[in-house]
Amino acid sequence: MNKIKDNLIVAGNWKMNKTPLESRLFIENLIPKINGLNCDIVIFGSYLILENAINISKNYNLKIGAQNFYFEAYGAYTGEISAEMLINIGVKTSLIGHSERRKFFNETNPSINRKIKKAVSIGINVTLCVGESLEERHSSKHKEIIKTQISDALSNIHYKSLSKITVAYEPIWAIGTGEIATPEQANEMCFFIKECIKNIYNLNEELTIKVLYGGSITSKNCKEIFLMPYIDGGLVGGASLDYNEFYSIVKTADDIIKGDVL
Ligand code: PGA
Repeated sequence: MNKIKDNLIVAGNWKMNKTPLESRLFIENLIPKINGLNCDIVIFGSYLILENAINISKNYNLKIGAQNFYFEAYGAYTGEISAEMLINIGVKTSLIGHSERRKFFNETNPSINRKIKKAVSIGINVTLCVGESLEERHSSKHKEIIKTQISDALSNIHYKSLSKITVAYEPIWAIGTGEIATPEQANEMCFFIKECIKNIYNLNEELTIKVLYGGSITSKNCKEIFLMPYIDGGLVGGASLDYNEFYSIVKTADDIIKGDVL
């Protein structure tokens, strides 16, 4: 079969799961198996595991990222971690604006924008998460919501900084629910996000920014999602906690890149 994708990103979002020991065992198992695979593989783990995980995986095809940070550099912000602190222990990438942060920790589009400004100014790559609720989808407001999330998050971010940004489209109704968006719905929204960004920056050329889909991805349904033309990979929550599941999703992405899928 012909090659249909040059690359795919498979990112695991471990959320508030896995002790340092559990994380180490997982990563030590994974790294020999993913050596030589072509897809980009990322694990977004808890702060506690980052430094160790980076050390274990530094010579392998596995990036380790944070799930969040605060936009101030230091100071009286009890309980927070700064981007500067992350850089100091070797973290080069982070999620920003995950819907659970928006819902449980009052993250807003303006605070997400401040975090992106901070990230691009000090050299952290970000995966910006956007997504609509079920109610917003049912009332056909999903495109409007996503457009606002994207344009607010990218407000006053220079075009050149787009190289540091990946977007993850994660409809809230599909996160942790087992109800995945159809490949067509996911593809339509990833395309829409790329168009929004092109409009914001007045671009005519093809965008290099990557847009992932996230929400109930498993080894069973990832192939159809990854094959869609405007989807550049997946952000995987629950299924990334299980070693065999995660490896199988990574392997599917690699097979697609190699043109090894039926
Ligand atoms: P899920 O989570 O795969 O468990 O639905 C995805 C996410 O929240 O990033």
